[in-house]
Amino acid sequence: MCGIVAYIGKENCRDIILEGLKRLEYRGYDSAGIAILNTNTDDGEPAVEIIKEAGKIRDMEALAVKSKIDGKCGIGHTRWATHGEPTAVNAHPHKDCTGKIALVHNGIIENYEQLREELKSQGHNFLSETDTEVLPHLLEKYYDGDLLAAMQELVKRIKGSGAIAAISSHCPDEIIGARIASPLIAGVSKMGNFLASDMPAVLKHTRKFLIINDYETVRLTEGGVEIFSRDGRPVNRKPFKANWSIESAEKSGYEDFMLKEIFEQPYGVKETMRGRLTDGEPGFEESGLTCDQIKGLSKVQIIACGSSYHAALIGKQVIEKWSKIPVEVDFSSEYRYRDPLVEKDSLSIAISQSGETIDTLAAIREAKSKGARVMAITNVVGSTIARESDSVIYTHAGPEIGVCATKTFTSQIIIMYLMGLYFGRLRGFIDKERYREIISQLNMIPGKIQNILDRAEELKKIAEHTYRKSCFLFLGRKHGLPAALEGALKLKEISYIHAEGYPAGEMKHGPIALTDTGTVVVGIMPLDSVYEKMLSNIQEVRARRAMIFSIVSENDGSIHEYADYTFKVPETPEELYGIITIIPLQLYSYYIAKNLGRNVDQPRNLAKSVTVE
Ligand code: G6P
Repeated sequence: MCGIVAYIGKENCRDIILEGLKRLEYRGYDSAGIAILNTNTDDGEPAVEIIKEAGKIRDMEALAVKSKIDGKCGIGHTRWATHGEPTAVNAHPHKDCTGKIALVHNGIIENYEQLREELKSQGHNFLSETDTEVLPHLLEKYYDGDLLAAMQELVKRIKGSGAIAAISSHCPDEIIGARIASPLIAGVSKMGNFLASDMPAVLKHTRKFLIINDYETVRLTEGGVEIFSRDGRPVNRKPFKANWSIESAEKSGYEDFMLKEIFEQPYGVKETMRGRLTDGEPGFEESGLTCDQIKGLSKVQIIACGSSYHAALIGKQVIEKWSKIPVEVDFSSEYRYRDPLVEKDSLSIAISQSGETIDTLAAIREAKSKGARVMAITNVVGSTIARESDSVIYTHAGPEIGVCATKTFTSQIIIMYLMGLYFGRLRGFIDKERYREIISQLNMIPGKIQNILDRAEELKKIAEHTYRKSCFLFLGRKHGLPAALEGALKLKEISYIHAEGYPAGEMKHGPIALTDTGTVVVGIMPLDSVYEKMLSNIQEVRARRAMIFSIVSENDGSIHEYADYTFKVPETPEELYGIITIIPLQLYSYYIAKNLGRNVDQPRNLAKSVTVE
């Protein structure tokens, strides 16, 4: 869950690496470091120079800028600690005993204790508490004039995961990388070549990328990128062109990435629908499923984590309703350990904005080992989940930098709606008129989201009145429930206030005991078939003196009698309230967190891409 970046080329590498790290900061932000083959030495010979510091990248940057380091080949790392506290000593890069090799790593070396003992007994000295430090010592051990060959030996020895980049003054004209189950891409350009955990790190310099696969090693020189298979044979792979622009990875005048990404949702939703609603008909050619296969589906199994799990819950409701296929939804981290049954003629769907979440990846592997056909829904082209699944549907929301999911979440919901309609039409279970109505209403969703965004000030004011409360309960029923769960997740992620999302009808079985004057109950209660029930539940908590904030439809006339605050959303068919009602909750959480002075883009203890279990 860390980020790595490496560059070798014509330019001075320090600033390129620092900038790349800042774009990867969403992956980890408790300490950072760079290693450069410094040519500004007394004898002119390149020497490995490391600068690292606990804290944010800017803390390390201050040291780097003061230094006299000059060089055209270097590596960098931003850390999310797993083994060892976030201190300068534990920060990457780590080096070998000679100081001639430096290395950065994203992942976990599961057999590091055993390797460390072995290396110690052979005389190697360790400075940090990290698992990573065994890696430069392994390179030292295996180095015999060829760093690539040493890396290939290293790959054979480690259990766990890793995206690795190493430099050495033994061979100052190359960077050697390797990948074992952690994301790694190579960027190709005329000014030089790059390795990075994710594309935004180097989008400013290139949009041409090569995917590095598991157990492959890679050699970067100023003039080229060579990839080698597990057994050391050269791999011939063509670069692909990313359609993400550098602007999309910048704040563009917004205070935070999260706010920018919330405001990008009308566009993100349109992009996700574009090309998938040809002539008004949803299409999923990439699914690789034939009409007969869809007609014959016995079950859909969705696996996901975090916000993606909430999108899956919306998927369950609409796929079941419109296509009459039973749908099960599992947390990826639970699915893989519960010895799941994979039924004949079933379809497994894995939802992951990053395409790298290790739990979802492991769940996919579990499902595939039992014979499942797996379709991925992800926002990142070429991500591991995309590649390991049998087919992939991209959400096209553009890069999301803020740690908590906003625009990727709404784009996943759109895919769920379209898939429900697509399956429903092919299987003949959705009424034709309803089908047409939903499609035409889907086209209005970007405008309705915009309407909510235009009234962000209303939510800002409600946040100003409520942010000091210590307990928030988000209640919903039916289509309002996934929004309630997601609303509570958003609030706790970025404000650190205790929040729970709950089915409103379940309140009386426990959570109602929590309600008192310190509680805010956020009711998701648009005018739908469960509105009256929601109204009763809201009265119950109001009677226990909770403060009430209700998300209602614009034509709701009666809610004023019961709620302290209300926010009205445009009307829509009830199945589509899931996407409409989450927008005010994202903004509300955002403003509460800002009132509390939180860093919404990089909330404590969280990371955008969770590549550890
Ligand atoms: C992290 C992110 C969440 C995300 C979850 C699942 O916790 O901070 O925003 O919902 O991972 O990620 P995925 O990439 O699999 O959707």
